[in-house]
Amino acid sequence: MGTNLLPVSAQQTTDPATESKIESLIKKMTLEEKIGMIHGNSSFTSTGVARLGIPELMTSDGPHGVRPEHGRDWVLDNKGDDSSTYLPVGITLASTWNPEMGYASGSVLGSEANYRGKDVILGPGINIMRTPLNGRNFEYMSEDPYLISKMVVGYIKGVQDQGVSASLKHYMGNNQEINRSGINVEMSERALREIYLPGFKAAVVEGGVNTVMGSYNRFRGEYCTYNDYLINKILKGEWGFQGLVMSDWGAIHSTKEALLGGADLEMGTDLEMLPNPDYSKFFFADAALRMVRGGEIAESVIDDKVRRILRVMYKTHMFDKRPSGTYATKEHADVARKIAEEGIILLKNKGNVLPLDKKTIKTIAVIGANGNRTNGMGGGSSQVRTKYEITPLKGLQNLCGNSVGITYEQGYTIARNAQADPKLIQQAVDAAKKADVAIVVGGWTHGYDYSVWSDNAYDTEGFDKPDMNMPFGQDELIRAVIKANPNTIVVLYGGGPIDIDTWVNEAKGILQVGYPGMEGGTALAEILFGVVNPSGKLTVTFPKHLEDSPAHKLGEYPGDSINVHYNEDIFVGYRYFDTYKVEPQFAFGHGLSYTSFKYSKPVVVTSTGSASVKISVQNTGTRQGAEVVQLYVRDLKSSLKRPVKELKAFNKVFLNAGESKEIEFNLDKSAFSYYDDKQNQWVLEPGKFDILIGSSSSDIRTKNRIKL
Ligand code: BGC
Repeated sequence: MGTNLLPVSAQQTTDPATESKIESLIKKMTLEEKIGMIHGNSSFTSTGVARLGIPELMTSDGPHGVRPEHGRDWVLDNKGDDSSTYLPVGITLASTWNPEMGYASGSVLGSEANYRGKDVILGPGINIMRTPLNGRNFEYMSEDPYLISKMVVGYIKGVQDQGVSASLKHYMGNNQEINRSGINVEMSERALREIYLPGFKAAVVEGGVNTVMGSYNRFRGEYCTYNDYLINKILKGEWGFQGLVMSDWGAIHSTKEALLGGADLEMGTDLEMLPNPDYSKFFFADAALRMVRGGEIAESVIDDKVRRILRVMYKTHMFDKRPSGTYATKEHADVARKIAEEGIILLKNKGNVLPLDKKTIKTIAVIGANGNRTNGMGGGSSQVRTKYEITPLKGLQNLCGNSVGITYEQGYTIARNAQADPKLIQQAVDAAKKADVAIVVGGWTHGYDYSVWSDNAYDTEGFDKPDMNMPFGQDELIRAVIKANPNTIVVLYGGGPIDIDTWVNEAKGILQVGYPGMEGGTALAEILFGVVNPSGKLTVTFPKHLEDSPAHKLGEYPGDSINVHYNEDIFVGYRYFDTYKVEPQFAFGHGLSYTSFKYSKPVVVTSTGSASVKISVQNTGTRQGAEVVQLYVRDLKSSLKRPVKELKAFNKVFLNAGESKEIEFNLDKSAFSYYDDKQNQWVLEPGKFDILIGSSSSDIRTKNRIKL
């Protein structure tokens, strides 16, 4: 049975009266004025038409806080109060597995962007985590397209409900930073449709995102920003996108091709143009003007771009009064804390070493440079200046007050090529020996200056990680601390997996925090002491070693500098680990709680091409907690090879001790279909399917076999 994609409604159109205002504005504009609107005229704005009351379009990064002001031409403006709320980054946000948190995060961002006079916030970033090495994984959400789709829709609605626009990035295939500005990505149509596009599609069709940012790389030979197939055929064609496609900064390299390929707005002040940039040299400036005058490009092509820009302007209240935003408020910081509380993941808790009990724990040795480090300004364009940022050390001090003695040792040095330092390790060991519990805070770090591979850059735009090993001699440090004090908890920062294989069996407690934002240290301390019960789940598989990852095992990474072939195809993340029986360190969807949950046998009712599933989940422990109930589908027999399971639904259930709740999942045909690239369509092959429900991709608690 073949299933064709239905044409989708165009979410970004304005009402007919506004559409006719847009047309009449276009009629009044000179060609020069139109051309002014389709290219940048400063680092973050495009030109308006003062004569007609059309303002400049004001953009700003994104995605987890409003970026500090950069003046008009990349001069960091340290004058104003541009200290925003620093929200947990994309990977931590998605680790909540709670779409309401997506909405909450987007709302804070939208409100603050609005307050700061921005029209478009450059986020969310939703590229698939194909390799653990991608320097920007921290900004992104997951290896799984379904989870991304659910998280991104809330985020976009949250932003756009505040009267500003989100900008979905980086469309598409920007899955590595090495050679990002030109690498040509080759993948099958099936991988494109099943893995790499669904998040973008959901953001456009369900989320109604007003603007999309094209990525730097090429796809099948053409730059993504003006890739006829990706932009004209899929985004604007199949998905009916009526909003504006902007380039990533400096991602346009030609005039005619780019104008016709679907890019609407050229952005990016080339650093080489500074200090006196000449914006008339942009591809979409004088060169475009000449082409239209010379008849090489029809004026209607430019009109369509202006129309799309004007739509965004109307949608984001640039011609009427936008409801006002608020800025860096206590409420916003509370949202940041709440997301961190739900996004921090308890990976291991041997012998219930956690939660710590204030009655018995009298001394804590906090160890590790990340324990006392702030991250807001790190990572590249997503940097956020923030009024304050609670580090893990501060969070613990705040929570414990005088009741617990807390010491701090640096343990390792964050510097390029820094190795284990025997003196620092000895100091850490001495401190650990004297304490009831040692908390080592390590993992990856952000660089602060991303224009060069600065001394400490790992989770950073523009660069990938060189390998997956713990940098700065942290393995030696952690092993020594565990030896000195068996009650050692390791807290890992960072945008995804890190190789912890040399000490994982020895450590009693391990937490993954991502980059948890300005209140991250508060949330971490609350979780360590059980004030908050952890409920985050991994959004990306933690391989034991880098070589176990599909992009490295089956595919190419980073390619030959011209091309990169995604030979692992649809077997990204757990789809690979589960199907090829490679045991990960921690599975996709894994995350522990201080309580326990019991799953009932599900009741499944099928009808043509769909199923509804009811299941009860009970909190069988003694404290309140939340469980992310995950539903995976397995196709028992199919014409094309399929992963042994794929996430098709989930629900985060909050339960008091002893409480149980029934939840219902409605699975439509998309939950059972695969993309057949011979027929070029989604196919639901009749047959048997297993509905697998569990607490992670590897911890399936119950299953039902159905026939469709
Ligand atoms: C990044 C984008 C960012 C833009 C503007 C680019 O280098 O790739 O994500 O929005 O700069 O700062």
